[in-house]
Amino acid sequence: MPDIIVEGKNKLNGKIKVQGSKNAVLPIIAASILIDGKTVINNCPDLSDVKASMKILEYLGAKCFYKNNCLIIDASNIKGCSIPEKLMREMRSSSLFLGAILSRMEMAVICSPGGCELGPRPIDLHIKALKELGAETKEQNGNISFKLNGGIIGNNIHLSFPSVGATENVIIAAALGNGTTTLNNAAKEPEIVDLANFLNKAGARIKGAGSDRVVIEGVKRLNPIEYSVCFDRIVAATYISAAAICGGDIVLNGVNIGQLSSVVSVYEEAGCLFSAKNKDLRIIAPKKLKSVSTVRSLTYPGFPTDAGPLLISSLTVAKGTSIFVENIFENRFRYIDELKRLGASIKTEGKVAVIEGVSRLCGAKCYATDLRGGAALVVAGLGAEGVTQIGKTCYIKRGYENIVKDLSSLGAKIKEA
Ligand code: UD1
Repeated sequence: MPDIIVEGKNKLNGKIKVQGSKNAVLPIIAASILIDGKTVINNCPDLSDVKASMKILEYLGAKCFYKNNCLIIDASNIKGCSIPEKLMREMRSSSLFLGAILSRMEMAVICSPGGCELGPRPIDLHIKALKELGAETKEQNGNISFKLNGGIIGNNIHLSFPSVGATENVIIAAALGNGTTTLNNAAKEPEIVDLANFLNKAGARIKGAGSDRVVIEGVKRLNPIEYSVCFDRIVAATYISAAAICGGDIVLNGVNIGQLSSVVSVYEEAGCLFSAKNKDLRIIAPKKLKSVSTVRSLTYPGFPTDAGPLLISSLTVAKGTSIFVENIFENRFRYIDELKRLGASIKTEGKVAVIEGVSRLCGAKCYATDLRGGAALVVAGLGAEGVTQIGKTCYIKRGYENIVKDLSSLGAKIKEA
């Protein structure tokens, strides 16, 4: 995969459309397994995680076709019920397929997901919830198998933590089944609302998505549909931080501003001006950012953990010292050593990062350590003097369909080589 090369210190100007959401489309692709017939997904971002999901579906017996941000899935002939280890490892979110395969095939087998770039990624909450929906489980040779006796049975479920993936797995599993499931302490992320809208359009009966109590009345059949995926709020946050670090004036098109309010309010404190009209969000950044009071990553509607690296990257050149507390993932700061290669002054201890603004960053060779950490290096490169070369860009491709094209259309000097 080619490196990304950025020549920094160019102001960003112009307007771009924000791509469809990775975190919304992945559970929607998994949920298409429940639909006996064709699913057409529009605004589907062109990402390696989407391609990996297609491989899983094809392995299970579905037919998939992708062109021009439209993914067509025909799950009529699904026969498989297991995901091989190789495909599981290709995409960390493959556990999202669990609820769908189980509900459709009455059986599902996956290998333990293990760790990832952000630390351990357990699925204990998913497993507990699926057991409460009637699954019997067995762990053997690193595999976990799930078996139903007579389909999903609705139940009252309480998540001990509002996990996004576990909430999605429960919604998907319980959409097609017997009885009503009430999910308490559910995650409230907008991507969960998108999943519920998708399933409801296909005939599911899901109420309360976006609140902490989701009620899913199981139905007998889901019908073929066409659906358009919501915008990617983390990609929007990436371009906000890109504009912020280099004094830009840009417009993001296709966004729902309400879903960005926790991000917008922090950048406002840093001195950026925002104005919104319909689905356009304009950001005008000051010449120099100001430091902000302590930011903590939280579940939605709090500040998103995925936007943390992007914020930290732009704060490296702010006037003053800022503090970021990472509350969701254990091992999210690996990219910080790479930011330091550009001259950033950041100290970390446990889940706390102290960012002391420096007068300038200097371009350097660095490596993406994970998806958003990689994007944070691109942002830092835009704000640095000289040339920054970012390697291991395969991580960045997992979540951005066109980061180089988007930023160069805004006037950045950025290329792949
Ligand atoms: C999703 C997003 C990811 C985002 C995260 C938090 C997708 C594809 N990914 O990930 O980009 O960073 O939400 O907003 O949508 N946990 C457990 N046991 C479980 C499940 C989760 O301990 O069974 C822990 C995780 O290790 C993590 C925390 O809960 O520390 C949050 O995880 P979760 O909300 O499930 O995130 P994901 O769905 O994996």
